[in-house]
This record gives sequence, structure tokens and C-alpha cells, in this order.
Amino acid sequence: MSHSTSSALPKIAILASGRGSNFDAIADAVAQGKLAAEIVCVLSDRADAPVLTKASARGLRAIHVAPPATSAGDLDSRRRVHDQEVVTALRAVQAEWIVMAGYMRVVTPVLLDAFKVQSGDYSRVVNIHPSLLPAFPGVESYQRAFEHGCALAGVTVHLVSEGVDAGPICAQESFAIGECRDVAEIERLGLAIEHRLYPQTLQWLLHQNFKLVQHKERLSVRKS
Ligand code: GRF
Repeated sequence: MSHSTSSALPKIAILASGRGSNFDAIADAVAQGKLAAEIVCVLSDRADAPVLTKASARGLRAIHVAPPATSAGDLDSRRRVHDQEVVTALRAVQAEWIVMAGYMRVVTPVLLDAFKVQSGDYSRVVNIHPSLLPAFPGVESYQRAFEHGCALAGVTVHLVSEGVDAGPICAQESFAIGECRDVAEIERLGLAIEHRLYPQTLQWLLHQNFKLVQHKERLSVRKS
């Protein structure tokens, strides 16, 4: 598979499982010329995901790839089979980058290897996570920050590698939650940041305006 981004606009596939507010923010940024990219499809593991309806309403290609039935093997092999079907679908639309926005699945090397750059340093797969990673990986991160009594919560955009929410950090932003009375308030504040930070970060990331920095524990991605 070619990963060339020499075409005028990088071709992105958005992977999402649910509501799709980040998809909306990205699609708006593209429409407004703030993000120079072409959305070649929106793909979901859930047939009833509102994000698919939103994509179709914008005239974008909406693709559903159902995960294998739980009777079809162990969890890891089912994940791999699903990822292979996703890769096939994304190749068909010539996606160059995968942009995850609320995609509620653990991905395997099948998908990561298909989008690996030639140097092998990273895969062209990006995610947004609602915490200051490495704090609170996994689900319900805003809720866990609230329940923990944190004074700050945050948002992280990162490249995806094996492991849950574990890849190189591209951008982070924190916000104060000490005065928040419930999780809904935190989520409202956080999503407003997500919807700005994700398109902004994608604009330099997709156009390769970054350098990789090796730290003691892992790589990070810094805007250059
Ligand atoms: C966002 O909070 C995102 O950070 C997380 O899942 C949520 C998706 O929300 N990964 P939406 O579907 O984009 O509205």
C-alpha cells in the first residue's frame, strides 16, 4: 500500500463508534479550509452509530464493518480479522491516514502495520483521548478524573501504537475542573477543547510538519 502524501490533499479515513462530535468538528474544519485534507470515508464498527448518519448527510462515504461474532474465535483473532476487513475497506478508498474519533476498539498490528511509514518509526494512525495521558487511559476518563478529585483534566492527541492509548503524544491541553459540579460539566469543557485541538493538530501532523523526539520511555511528536 502506498502511503505517499504527495497528492494535493492528504486522504483521511475517520473511524468512530458513536456520536461523532469530533467528526463534525473535523469535517467543519475541512469545509472552512482550516484543515487541508480530504475525508475519503467515515468507518464505524457499529451499524447504528450516529456518526454514519452524519457522514451520509454531508455527502461523505459511510462504511460499516461489523466485528466478527463472539463465537468466531478468541478475542485477539477476532480483533485481527476485523482489522483486516477495515484495512481492505480503507485501501479501496485510498486512505493515507486513519483519524480515530471515539473509535471504541483496540486495534492490532494488522491495522497498524498497514499504515506504517517506510522508516517503521510510527503508523499514520491518530487518536484523541479525553485525559492528560498517561493518566486515565481507557474508557470514561473525564468521569474518572472527576471521581479522583483532580484539579485538572485534559485532552491528548496521539499517534496510535500497540497498547491502549499508549502511542507518541502530539498535543495536549489541560483545563481546570476543581469547581465543576458534575461530569457533564467537565465533558462540555473538554469537548470544546477537543473540537478545536484535534483539527489544529491534524493540520500540521497530516502535512508532515513535525519531528519525532526520543525520550527515555518513548517517542513524542513535536510541531516543527
Ligand atoms: C471523545 O471524548 C473522544 O476524546 C473520545 O471519545 C469521545 C468521542 O466523542 N475518544 P464524539 O463521538 O466525537 O462526540
